[in-house]
Amino acid sequence: MKKITVFRGDGIGPEIMESVLKILKFLTLPLEFEEFDVGEAEYKRNGKLIPDAAYASFDKNKVLLKAPITTPIGKGFRSLNVTLRKRYDLYANIRPARSIPAIKTPFPDVDLVTFRENTEDLYCGIEEVIDENTVHATKIITRKASERIIRRAFAYALLNGRKQVTCVHKANIMKQSDGLFLSCFYEIAKEFPTIQVNDKIIDAMCMELVMHPQRYDVLVMPNLYGDIISDLTSGLIGGLGVLPSSNLGDEYAMFEAVHGSAPDIAGKHIANPSSLLLSACMMLDYLHEETAAKRIRQALFRVFEDGTTLTPDLHGQATTEEFCEAILTYLK
Ligand code: NAI
Repeated sequence: MKKITVFRGDGIGPEIMESVLKILKFLTLPLEFEEFDVGEAEYKRNGKLIPDAAYASFDKNKVLLKAPITTPIGKGFRSLNVTLRKRYDLYANIRPARSIPAIKTPFPDVDLVTFRENTEDLYCGIEEVIDENTVHATKIITRKASERIIRRAFAYALLNGRKQVTCVHKANIMKQSDGLFLSCFYEIAKEFPTIQVNDKIIDAMCMELVMHPQRYDVLVMPNLYGDIISDLTSGLIGGLGVLPSSNLGDEYAMFEAVHGSAPDIAGKHIANPSSLLLSACMMLDYLHEETAAKRIRQALFRVFEDGTTLTPDLHGQATTEEFCEAILTYLK
């Protein structure tokens, strides 16, 4: 039995996690789930965002399925997500955006995978107040972190029959920091001569992606650009509710929805669990349970096609629980 650590999160986190676990448990896979409360509520209860037992579980199991967690803006504790990515060196944030036939968007043929560097850039959280009118934020780009995310993107492309890897940057302005990332990209590209390469400046890339996303394949970039571009790519396929993600290191792996804790709809039981469910499918692929992952994706896409049991973000009226039941019906 493989043990999986589960963080239920806050906001809509517990609601969508419940649905996802119900589906995973229905398939009677050789998996056992160790569940923990984490986040703001847990902090108020016992002063710890992540209880020691939850850390110990992930330390041991090395695979984490995580629901979204609230991060207060401009005050309070550091983002738990950033903390987890740093602590477990989850340096590769991988977000595949592939068109779902039943979800109509202006682009029926999107198939992009974003590789976002996850441990440095402006997200290192070093901000210095110079005076009341001036704040300096530090952007860190290192050769080590750049090389490993770029190599991972190329290795993925090779393994998955992808044709092209594009580096996204702003090296025309940040000549040293993004310049280093870009030069690492072209050095590593030499190790993968069968893959086509190019690079795009982040602003031009945004325009390209909303005009002809089908021209792109695998994208690799520093942390901040990856955060923005991956939300953009989610918009191309139907929104944050349907984009999955994995955060991988060399030893640990964390799978989470790309959206946040959606406080505006928390407790209303109308959240769409698809992003977390598709992230759980990425986890099943990672654990070599590909058949189960495929079955879940097929059942989910049939619910989308059927169109009668969709959550409000997909213009339906179903509750999270009804949506989950519809998936289970197709799994039976
Ligand atoms: P958000 O992604 O939570 O919500 C943005 C909008 O999308 C809201 O209108 C929300 O109702 C909707 N939405 C999000 N997920 C949905 C779903 N599954 N089904 C239906 N509608 C959905 O972004 P927001 O409001 O900026 O952030 C809220 C909190 O979440 C913040 O504290 C933020 O820091 C945190 N957050 C946590 C993340 C994580 O744990 N990985 C990632 C992003 C944000």
